[in-house]
Amino acid sequence: MEDINQINELNQNEIYIVEATKNYVFEQLKDDTSGHDWWHIHRVVSNTIKLARLEKTANMFICVMAALLHDVIDDKLVEDEVEAVEAVKQFMTEQSVTTEEQASILSIICHMSFKGGQQAPLSTIEGFVVQDADRLDAIGAIGIARTIYYSGHKGRPIHEPELKPRENMSFEDYRNGKDTAIMHFYEKLLKLKDLMNTESGRQIAEGRHKYLVEYLEQFYAEWDAER
Ligand code: ADP
Ligand code: NI
Repeated sequence: MEDINQINELNQNEIYIVEATKNYVFEQLKDDTSGHDWWHIHRVVSNTIKLARLEKTANMFICVMAALLHDVIDDKLVEDEVEAVEAVKQFMTEQSVTTEEQASILSIICHMSFKGGQQAPLSTIEGFVVQDADRLDAIGAIGIARTIYYSGHKGRPIHEPELKPRENMSFEDYRNGKDTAIMHFYEKLLKLKDLMNTESGRQIAEGRHKYLVEYLEQFYAEWDAER
């Protein structure tokens, strides 16, 4: 992540809040072993800063705060989502984040996860930027590493040739059904390119998407001992 002091778009008060939020999130995610660790947040914040600058009209403070906080309320990571949202609200109030800013940040982080494609779309430029930044970290070389890592974390195989990607699955199936790392490429990763919100995000996604397609091609060729 860029040094917070180098984010010229933030004022001094915002820099203090971002610094405190960074520590708050780090404490919660530093031991994560599901691919939603601190370094995921770090990369999403970096992508966010880049996209916010390219998109010009996005409020940098809202974007960076939402990027930092986007996974501390995730249903995969916390036992009680409602409680987690309350904790984030309390933290932001302690940091003197205004009610209006809190509402903008919460509306983004509560609605941005893919969840099998079942979420309502976001509506603000800040939401578009942060969701794109998170999606970029789900594709390309890093996306592949995270997917295989997450599958292992869940005790799932890399690939089962007879298992086919599922269409129109329920949220329960998406989270807990019979799944493999390779299936997840079709059930999520390959769909993300066309779901990007911003033009800048879409352009970066193109390159990362191409890498996924080439990876699968090579994977199947090696699987069948063709290469
Ligand atoms: P969601 O869990 O709503 O799909 P996330 O952005 O939290 O969205 O998922 C983050 C990443 O975790 C995915 O991009 C992927 O790398 C990994 N992941 C999530 N679900 C699976 C799965 N069923 N199989 C493999 N990897 C997964
Ligand atoms: Ni994320």
